Amino acid sequence: MKEILGIDVGGSGIKGAIVNCREGKLSTERIRIPTPTPPSPENIAITIAELVSKFDYKGPVGVGFPAVVKNGTVYTAANIDSSFIGLNYELFLKKKVDRPIRLINDADAAGLAEIKFGAGKDNKGLIILVTIGTGIGSVIVNKGKLIYNTELGHIYLPGDREAEKYASDATRKSSNLEWSEWAKRINEYLMYLENLFWPDLFIVGGGISKHEDKFLSQLTLKTKTVTAQLLNNAGIIGAALSAKKLI
Ligand code: BGC
Repeated sequence: MKEILGIDVGGSGIKGAIVNCREGKLSTERIRIPTPTPPSPENIAITIAELVSKFDYKGPVGVGFPAVVKNGTVYTAANIDSSFIGLNYELFLKKKVDRPIRLINDADAAGLAEIKFGAGKDNKGLIILVTIGTGIGSVIVNKGKLIYNTELGHIYLPGDREAEKYASDATRKSSNLEWSEWAKRINEYLMYLENLFWPDLFIVGGGISKHEDKFLSQLTLKTKTVTAQLLNNAGIIGAALSAKKLI
């Protein structure tokens, strides 16, 4: 089977589509349901089940989730309800949705998609992809191999400023930053990562990737920097790819 349902759980919306995993493209329209409040394990599971039921689809489901996820268990909760911590949410969803589920960190999902089908496809060096939305997610890819569950959005920049709080898209919006002010912040953050990791390529993904014209030309990095080619669909496509083994 080459078609798998991918779901991306975000701070403001839960989005899904059936993905053609051979071509790395959405084969249905993408459906979005606002993230429920409170965003508890139960409520999110109900929303995911509702989203799944909107597709004429019976196979496994890949779910990108905004936290560290190891073997189905959630370990962190920067922008989600703290009751997720320690919960095997993959198992929880399996029961609620009644489908085989693969739960994966959302930035790792975006990384899987971008290295197979997007901006990282021809780069065999060290790639750092950051997803910028409600939070900042990260994935490091070395010679085509992913290092899962890196959390570079929680690095502290000099002056005790946590990168995610300083340069996320949510901060841009809540602090009413001009694009040029925000571009300076993201430049500072990426420069910090550049000096630590010396990557060959930065890929900027997440909701911000559709606004490339507002910031990309203002970056002054040594490292080649591009936006995610699959734009905000990278998370959905990668989540579907991660569930391939369940077929
Ligand atoms: C979380 C990451 C996640 C990122 C993007 C961060 O707050 O700690 O796990 O990938 O947000 O959603």
